Amino acid sequence: MVTVTQKLCLMCLILLLLCRELGVAAQAAQNFSLQQPQTKVSVAAGGTITLNCTISGFAEPGPLRWLKGWGSGNKTIYDQKSKEPSPRVTRAVPGSGTDITIQIEKAQPEDMGTYYCVKFVKSDGLTSVDEVFQRGNGTEVSVEAQPSPPLLSGPEQRAEPEQTVSFNCTTGGFFPKTIGVRWFRNKDPMVAQQPQVTEGGVKTYNMSSTVMVTLQKADVRSQLICEVQHSTLQEPLRERYQLSRVLRVPPSLEVRAEPSLVEVNKTVTFTCLVKEFYPANVSVSWLENGIGIKVENVSQPLELSQGLYELKSQVEVQATEEKNGSMITCMVVHDAQAPASKSAFLWISNPGQEGLSKGFQMDKGVKLLPSLGLGILLEKALFGGLLFFLFRRMKTK
Ligand SMILES: *[C@@H]1O[C@H](CO)[C@@H](O)[C@H](O)[C@H]1NC(C)=O
Ligand SMILES: *[C@@H]1O[C@H](CO)[C@@H](O)[C@H](O)[C@H]1NC(C)=O
Ligand SMILES: *[C@@H]1O[C@H](CO)[C@@H](O)[C@H](O)[C@H]1NC(C)=O
Repeated sequence: MVTVTQKLCLMCLILLLLCRELGVAAQAAQNFSLQQPQTKVSVAAGGTITLNCTISGFAEPGPLRWLKGWGSGNKTIYDQKSKEPSPRVTRAVPGSGTDITIQIEKAQPEDMGTYYCVKFVKSDGLTSVDEVFQRGNGTEVSVEAQPSPPLLSGPEQRAEPEQTVSFNCTTGGFFPKTIGVRWFRNKDPMVAQQPQVTEGGVKTYNMSSTVMVTLQKADVRSQLICEVQHSTLQEPLRERYQLSRVLRVPPSLEVRAEPSLVEVNKTVTFTCLVKEFYPANVSVSWLENGIGIKVENVSQPLELSQGLYELKSQVEVQATEEKNGSMITCMVVHDAQAPASKSAFLWISNPGQEGLSKGFQMDKGVKLLPSLGLGILLEKALFGGLLFFLFRRMKTK
């Protein structure tokens, strides 16, 4: 059984509770809350950054803003009250009283930073300064930027086989900092120095990688490849460099006289073989005892299978008697370098020693000729000595 007093007490309690509830409701009207849920946002350069912020409850009058950075150096990105919004910034839900989400279009590396959704209230009216009432936890924005197409540079001047030259591969404007570089000579991976990654423009990085290459004759057809790998790339970026651009293979020379021993007034064909050179620009001239000979037909360089060139130049010389022992020189200027030369001699067979000379000819005459010449000189000296001896004897008688 419940007594009247007990009933009254219960009424009082209910009333009391009701009163308290009303008070809480009145306070709730002031219980403003701001939610900025994202801690990190990553977007590709050129994309759209979406920054979420919602509010609930009520607060004293004052603007809602988005700030980039906190403390000194902060920047107002969006201001609810501003008549001129920033060009790339729009509200996701225009005019909403509770959703303050913004979008920043055409994201740039410069947009990187921490963004805060902030509720300001008017200060006591004396100053027109707005005071921070509540702020979100901040959203860290990173803009991922792709590295620029790599640039591959080599030495300024051509280098010859066995020489070591350096090549440099550079790229820039990327974010994040981590980047991979690989080098290949044709299909073979190469050992390169540790790439240098430096700060580029605003929040971006540049990379430079160097590789040393010892050139070879066979590199005319080789290519160097710099491969750049970055988190923003689906496929690595590659830049190629034809080693022929920096390679110079000097020719080796060979001069032949055909026939090596000729009868007087016949013609001798001198052949200059300019072997295995690169690049193709070469000029050949002929000299007879140091004086230029005119050559009618200038032959063109022939490309060999390995990409090197070869050239054959010929000159015909009339073997008049006074030309015996003449030095015929093939002079080659390759790729504007110092001239190189090789010589052969014109030898006229002694009419009296026809058979002998023929024999020498069959026996690779050129190499034996100097000894033959020496032999003849010796012969002449002996003959001279004999004459002198006879002459002396005649005088003494
Ligand atoms: C933003 O920067 C201004 C100027 O430096 C400064 O007066 C203000 O207090 C800063 N605001 C915040 C929220 O850090
Ligand atoms: C070679 O030619 C010259 C001039 O043409 C001539 O005088 C000489 O007799 C010739 N010698 C021989 C061996 O034919
Ligand atoms: C040419 O010179 C060589 C060597 O001096 C000599 O053996 C030869 O007899 C010469 N030929 C003539 C035709 O004089």
